[in-house]
Amino acid sequence: MCNYQVTLAIFKPDLVARPVSLNLVCRMIEKEGLSIVCRKTLRLSLKEAEKFYEEHNGRFYFERLTTYMQSSDINGVILGGEDAIKRWRRLMGPTKPCIAKRDSPASIRGRFGLCDTQNSVHGSDSVENAMKEINLIFPEFCWKEWLRSLK
Ligand code: TYD
Ligand code: MG
Repeated sequence: MCNYQVTLAIFKPDLVARPVSLNLVCRMIEKEGLSIVCRKTLRLSLKEAEKFYEEHNGRFYFERLTTYMQSSDINGVILGGEDAIKRWRRLMGPTKPCIAKRDSPASIRGRFGLCDTQNSVHGSDSVENAMKEINLIFPEFCWKEWLRSLK
């Protein structure tokens, strides 16, 4: 059965600021057999960060999260592969690094996460959100061309 997917990953500011850790994350992605379809460095505005995390508006951590996400450069990454959405989230580990370090120490957040906000990586959680988030971070991404490349 073939369930090839693309998903949006973000390397957050804390990870981009640590090139050695960033390189280790890229090796984990490679080892997992996911492919990096596109990758770029960008800096979000506060408005863009608020749009990206709009589902979280109203939560106690929203302002801290959006301020953090626009504080410095991030990497937007489109990952592709069989069941890429689920596999990337598994590789990321639990949201909170203290939980990740306890339950999933080999995951990215278990190894590199610093705190609940500075948790190193983002990953889309559904096909619908992956499409939405790829369109936000990579408005230039051509879905038609990508679909053609699968044939
Ligand atoms: P969420 O979508 O729940 O986690 P994930 O990134 O694993 O999909 O939350 C989005 C981000 O919000 C999360 O990566 C970090 C931040 N956050 C906090 O700072 N504190 C929290 O208690 C939660 C739940 C999230
Ligand atoms: Mg989420």
